[in-house]
Amino acid sequence: MNIKSTFTLSNGVKMPVFGFGVWQIRNGSEVANAVKEALEVGYTLIDTAAAYENEEGVGEGLKGIQREDVFVTTKVWNSEQGYDTTLKACESSLKKLDLAYVDLYLVHWPVAGKLADTWRAMEKIYERGLARAVGVSNFNEYHLNELKKSAKIKPMVNQIEIHPLLSQQPLREFCANEGIVVEAYSPLGRAKILNTPQIASIAKKHAKSAAQVILRWHLQNGVIAIPKSTHAERIKENAAIFDFELSAEEMGAINALNKDKEIINKAAFLKFDENRSIII
Ligand code: A2P
Repeated sequence: MNIKSTFTLSNGVKMPVFGFGVWQIRNGSEVANAVKEALEVGYTLIDTAAAYENEEGVGEGLKGIQREDVFVTTKVWNSEQGYDTTLKACESSLKKLDLAYVDLYLVHWPVAGKLADTWRAMEKIYERGLARAVGVSNFNEYHLNELKKSAKIKPMVNQIEIHPLLSQQPLREFCANEGIVVEAYSPLGRAKILNTPQIASIAKKHAKSAAQVILRWHLQNGVIAIPKSTHAERIKENAAIFDFELSAEEMGAINALNKDKEIINKAAFLKFDENRSIII
């Protein structure tokens, strides 16, 4: 496996096994430079969202690259959900990215009462060729089962928070059984878990950094990690995970760190109902 390796989604589209996330990277030259740096290192998957407010800068960073050499993801934000508004949101994102299509379009969060209409729009977007694949983000089993009731096309990807403190084993297994590829956001736990002694000792054994060990753990779990960094040396470091392997014992030691603990305090900016759907 290498940085150009891919997983095959349920519709046959090939998606890179590893990518670059741009949450909280400023629009303009900061995100454009980070994307350019990542592309230079060999990343082919770039993950943004309308809510990150940096799609123009991402588009800028993609200039000069062959369209088919890059896999671009963006997402419809909660306030835009519903049928017509999701279609409009997709068109608006494409305009900002200056792309004719994205490779993957995701529903950013499950919004209470909007699931069926939003997904109908996602299917339309897929049929119109504005996205080569469609999927969801932050969906739990309840949301995926709800979606099934009306969906004609199954989501191809579910992007969720995963890192050693939140390994999401049951949801990952559920997705695997449904043929849904799992993608990890905040794969490094926002860098808050890099000093964990168990990870540090594994890193030392392999002469790798803690970040590389965690990213390798994702890879060996069959999860697409999209670490974020604005530093060239870290962007490079994070991609150097294809030249070593964690043993079953080391994988087990990292799995054992799970505490089902979210690192991102979502309640600070989102309101949830009892099913963990968003209330807007
Ligand atoms: P920075 O952008 O200043 O490099 P996650 O991908 O889990 O959301 O984590 C992102 C955070 O981790 C950012 O704060 C980023 O900081 C930091 N980070 C990314 N890669 C590394 C690395 N290799 N070593 C240390 N910190 C990193």
